[in-house]
Amino acid sequence: MMMAARGSLLLVFSSLVQNGVFGQNTTDNLQYVDQLIGSANGGNVFPGATLPYGMAKAVADVDSPSNQGGFTTEGGNITGFSTMHDSGTGGSPSLGNFAFFPYASCPGDDLNRCTYPKKARKIPYVPDSIKATPGYFGITLSSGVAAEMTTAQHTSLFRFKFPSTSNGTSPLLLLDLTDLADSRQDNASMSVDADTGRMTGNARFLPSFGSGNWVGYFCADFGGADIRDNGIFVNSRASADVKDLKITRSINNYPLPGGGFIRFTSNPTDGILARIGVSLISSEQACASAESEIPSFDFSATHDLAESAWREKLSPISVSTTGVNSSLLTNFFSGIYRTMVNPQNYTGENPLWSSSELYFDSFYCLWDSFRSQLPFLTILDPASVTQMVRSLIDTYEHEGWLPDCRMSLCKGYTQGGSNADVVLADAYIKGLSAGIDWDKGYEAVVKDAEVEPYSWSNEGRGGLDSWKSLGYIPTQDFDYKGFGTMTRSVSRSLEYAYNDFCIAQMAANLGSSTDVEKYTERSANWKNLYYAEQKSYLFNGQDTGFTGFFQGKYMNGTWHSQDPLWCSTIDPDPNRVCSLQNTGQETFESSLWEYGFYVPGDQAGLISLYGGPTAFVQRLNYLHDQNITYIGNEPAFLTVFQYHYAGRPALSALRSHFYIPRFFSPTNAGLPGNDDSGAMGSFVAMSMMGLFPNPGQNVYLITPPFFESVSIRSPVTGKTATIRNANFDPSYGAIYIQSATLNGAHYTKNWLDHSFFTEGKELVLTLGRNESTWGTRVEDLPPSLSEYVGFGNGTVSNGTMGGERWRRRGGPRMGALESRDVGGFI
Ligand SMILES: *[C@@H]1O[C@H](CO)[C@@H](O)[C@H](O)[C@H]1NC(C)=O
Ligand SMILES: *[C@@H]1O[C@H](CO)[C@@H](O)[C@H](O)[C@H]1NC(C)=O
Ligand SMILES: *[C@@H]1O[C@H](CO)[C@@H](O)[C@H](O)[C@H]1NC(C)=O
Ligand SMILES: *[C@@H]1O[C@H](CO)[C@@H](O)[C@H](O)[C@H]1NC(C)=O
Ligand SMILES: *[C@@H]1O[C@H](CO)[C@@H](O)[C@H](O)[C@H]1NC(C)=O
Ligand SMILES: *[C@@H]1O[C@H](CO)[C@@H](O)[C@H](O)[C@H]1NC(C)=O
Ligand SMILES: *[C@@H]1O[C@H](CO)[C@@H](O)[C@H](O)[C@H]1NC(C)=O
Ligand SMILES: *[C@@H]1O[C@H](CO)[C@@H](O)[C@H](O)[C@H]1NC(C)=O
Ligand SMILES: *[C@@H]1O[C@H](CO)[C@@H](O)[C@H](O)[C@H]1NC(C)=O
Ligand SMILES: *[C@@H]1O[C@H](CO)[C@@H](O)[C@H](O)[C@H]1NC(C)=O
Ligand SMILES: *[C@@H]1O[C@H](CO)[C@@H](O)[C@H](O)[C@H]1NC(C)=O
Repeated sequence: MMMAARGSLLLVFSSLVQNGVFGQNTTDNLQYVDQLIGSANGGNVFPGATLPYGMAKAVADVDSPSNQGGFTTEGGNITGFSTMHDSGTGGSPSLGNFAFFPYASCPGDDLNRCTYPKKARKIPYVPDSIKATPGYFGITLSSGVAAEMTTAQHTSLFRFKFPSTSNGTSPLLLLDLTDLADSRQDNASMSVDADTGRMTGNARFLPSFGSGNWVGYFCADFGGADIRDNGIFVNSRASADVKDLKITRSINNYPLPGGGFIRFTSNPTDGILARIGVSLISSEQACASAESEIPSFDFSATHDLAESAWREKLSPISVSTTGVNSSLLTNFFSGIYRTMVNPQNYTGENPLWSSSELYFDSFYCLWDSFRSQLPFLTILDPASVTQMVRSLIDTYEHEGWLPDCRMSLCKGYTQGGSNADVVLADAYIKGLSAGIDWDKGYEAVVKDAEVEPYSWSNEGRGGLDSWKSLGYIPTQDFDYKGFGTMTRSVSRSLEYAYNDFCIAQMAANLGSSTDVEKYTERSANWKNLYYAEQKSYLFNGQDTGFTGFFQGKYMNGTWHSQDPLWCSTIDPDPNRVCSLQNTGQETFESSLWEYGFYVPGDQAGLISLYGGPTAFVQRLNYLHDQNITYIGNEPAFLTVFQYHYAGRPALSALRSHFYIPRFFSPTNAGLPGNDDSGAMGSFVAMSMMGLFPNPGQNVYLITPPFFESVSIRSPVTGKTATIRNANFDPSYGAIYIQSATLNGAHYTKNWLDHSFFTEGKELVLTLGRNESTWGTRVEDLPPSLSEYVGFGNGTVSNGTMGGERWRRRGGPRMGALESRDVGGFI
């Protein structure tokens, strides 16, 4: 009786829990990770098996046009299974080195009737065979071969299971001297050991968004069945009589197919195992890593270790599942997962200099990751960010400059400012210290500000003479000292100004008072490109109603005339050139309209320039509501939360719900743009946890978390910070903070600082369905270089309180909110 009664009570209880009636906090966050989010529609994520920051990243490579991360769910054909990848990047595909390809047998048992060249051998996969979980990727080819893979730090382990019905009892694996972008250069080599089957070799490749080249080495071993024979292939022919190959690129702009093969005497039901270690130093090092990391070809042990590493990385954060649709949990934890795929830990693999420091690569690019990815990791994984900062500073030490973008041991292209300055300032201000040589870090950022590199296309800043003498980067600058694409004068000026703001922050402790003064002054250079007369018309001729924009300015002081909406999302000209091309605009990958908000250090000054908080909010609403900005590119991130500075934190909350999940959903096509090494993932994570950074400052802007509560244990201090929503409404009708307490005390500021995490504070937000006065007074606003002026006295701006127009409609989470409800004019 007792037992039965208890049983049925438990049943009732667990169904209530499933329905979200009782709160539960997530424990094993891995179950919410979906690596396929962003595997279609240009997310370009790497969806395969990797350790956190791992160098070995194993996945199936496809030939779809957006295969930058190796695999996509867009229906391409599989060309092979390779071990090195980047994630979420644009441009040409990155890495994809040293692919295996499996055959159950060669037709007629004739070696020469297996298909070797990548273009010819590729085949479809079985769509619903894909299985991707942390540390694991599995897929079945239309040939019936099932491939599974898992990884250690520098080593992948593949398991290929061949159909038992296949004629051949002699499966073949080939290993190709190729990469995704077909960038292989001359004189790649491959050697096959006749007795052990071990394949070693190397090849030189090009980086996917940078200058120079790099050499990758490998060491492959096999298990699961006895070796029948092995050898090399070139083009469409193979021979077991030849064990060594050296091969050119060829003159036809495509690397000649070449590599090694191995055949087995049987087709074991447990599959054939292929282990491949990679190195940037030597094949010997690749072999040593493989032997030590996966000594006994134990697939499940390797997989278990990878899974535990991820479980550990995701463990400091827990959210309440109360009432929320599990798709939101998936969105959140998958975003978090993606923040730890890149950068990659290449410690011990750097051939460029010898150093006792750590070495990280695939900062791809800091222009993307400074905004919220690295700040997010500073909360969740500060020990790793500390190591990354040490690596950046060591890169400065040996290459002479901090990188802006770095991949495959090469210098990537700089998109705007020297944004490593923001990364360092952010880490410094938030107290990262272990082993960081901050004096050298400060020296590095000052060099960015003072010394012009010969190639500012790859490091530092261009136009520094003009920057210092004129206070802006002129359109068509005269710059004979260093070289880079002579465009982006407005966005570069704005980014340089914020870089200088960040240097001034660091200078307060690390530099002189002269430095503080100098860089604070230069941080105001953004004002020099404000053209008060600039009007903006929509492409149908209608006046936007806004006057005064940043604009390019020539050296002689004459204004340039870029339309403020060019390169915006609504620019109808498909031929407008907006990126790094030398015919590009004065703004990078975005419009004057959007860059019109990029003054992260002096929002108060910007608000004044735009005519006060009401006008500022109108302009910010217009930017979002008219689709001028696009959340799929990183400059949009901060604009979602800049309402805080105008005393309207409620509108930041409203805006973040407008974008999530509408533009970020837990589906394969669910990302609005390239994930950019996890930058988009971090936007989702920080927006949903309700604290968004203004990077380079000790500031998190408060909005209600998307969950009833969020807890984050600081890995540094072991203390747990908690944000709790009182009156939590899982339909997100009540997303406005009415009042707050911090550690039990009344709290009205609309921001808080990093001590919240390190000291494990508790923030309780009481929510309501209407905008309130919480966080709206000047004294509640985040810090800004200038004083806030033109604000009302203790209330939000004129006529905007509690009115119908600010009341978000209830109903379903998505859909009810039309863009006109979000903003429109006040
Ligand atoms: C979930 O976490 C919150 C915040 O740490 C805590 O207040 C709450 O009691 C927890 N709920 C459960 C069911 O453990
Ligand atoms: C994949 O290969 C199949 C047959 O080999 C071919 O019919 C199909 O068009 C290919 N798909 C793509 C996207 O190239
Ligand atoms: C099957 O294998 C045998 C020997 O291994 C070979 O003689 C025969 O041609 C094969 N058949 C096909 C259809 O490949
Ligand atoms: C490639 O090999 C050829 C033939 O051995 C040699 O002449 C050439 O110098 C090599 N090229 C490079 C870049 O090593
Ligand atoms: C959860 O969200 C998904 C995706 O938005 C939706 O399809 C599903 O209907 C939702 N489930 C519930 C119970 O609301
Ligand atoms: C990077 O690799 C080095 C050497 O193996 C190790 O000491 C360090 O802890 C790693 N760091 C991270 C964040 O993976
Ligand atoms: C300044 O330079 C621009 C660009 O070369 C030129 O179009 C403009 O006429 C010049 N203005 C004056 C006042 O010389
Ligand atoms: C903005 O884009 C959305 C689609 O994302 C569309 O529904 C909306 O009508 C657009 N708004 C304007 C003003 O064009
Ligand atoms: C601002 O508020 C204070 C205190 O509520 C009041 O004394 C003062 O008159 C107000 N000033 C203005 C300009 O409204
Ligand atoms: C407040 O509204 C009145 C009337 O609409 C307007 O005249 C005044 O300029 C507004 N004040 C501010 C600070 O926007
Ligand atoms: C929200 O504001 C509206 C309009 O002022 C008012 O009718 C409604 O009662 C308010 N709701 C709450 C919960 O205060």
